[in-house]
Amino acid sequence: MKPVTTFTLREMKRQGEKITCLTAYDYSFASLLDHAGIDMVMIGDSLGMVMQGHDSTLPVSVADMVYHSRCVARGVRRALIIADMPFMSYQQSPSHAFASAGRLMQKGGAQVVKLEGGEPMAETVQFLVDRGIPVCAHLGLTPQSVHQLGGYRVQGRETTTAERIQRDAKLLQQAGASLLVLEAVPTELAKAITSDLEIPTIGIGAGPNCDGQVLVLQDMLGVYPRPSPKFSRNFMEGANSIEAAVRAYIEAVKTGKFPAPEHSFSSS
Ligand code: KIV
Repeated sequence: MKPVTTFTLREMKRQGEKITCLTAYDYSFASLLDHAGIDMVMIGDSLGMVMQGHDSTLPVSVADMVYHSRCVARGVRRALIIADMPFMSYQQSPSHAFASAGRLMQKGGAQVVKLEGGEPMAETVQFLVDRGIPVCAHLGLTPQSVHQLGGYRVQGRETTTAERIQRDAKLLQQAGASLLVLEAVPTELAKAITSDLEIPTIGIGAGPNCDGQVLVLQDMLGVYPRPSPKFSRNFMEGANSIEAAVRAYIEAVKTGKFPAPEHSFSSS
């Protein structure tokens, strides 16, 4: 069993093999996902909502992320472990980001850190990458900016925003990002960005043409008590165990059956 690395993911993109990712925040679920054959486990700051019950990801701290990452890392043998940089842990300066990312890797066992934002974050991405920290960028609906975006809304429907997201994607790749998460953007835009980039794109509400897919575990198991986003699917329907639901998700992503058009957005 060879551990998944950022190189493995780039090769998967080259070969046209879809990449699977789910979030996890604890040892047992991380272990189950890894055993089921998931390619990446993401400790998302979505934990602020699904684990802690907040209305947004904003209250999550680096200490929270380190705690949950450490729990997850103990359960993973094969999958690549990605941890979110929470709000206020990287925006101030590249050296502040470096200190936060260092804690996530050193104390939390993360192998890649994820941060949200476009051009203004390119210098920080480069600073981290130059110092040996692999980075996953995140564009489109960036939940840490929910108040600036006016809610959890699809991004990139207007030409100017679509062009900015596409330009930002290129800049982040040039800055050294290893991966790019695209959240809640029209299928056509995600398709164009995916074919523009050499690094893999991981979609969530970004249509079927991304190189991989990610969902929040609690959404795809149907256990989050609030309404789940349109782009998610409850994989427990028709499954007789959590492991079967996770395997069904992996199979649906690998074969291109998920996301279907009803889980995607168009430009108009
Ligand atoms: O916080 C999170 O879980 C995420 C992913 C769902 C992309 O950012």
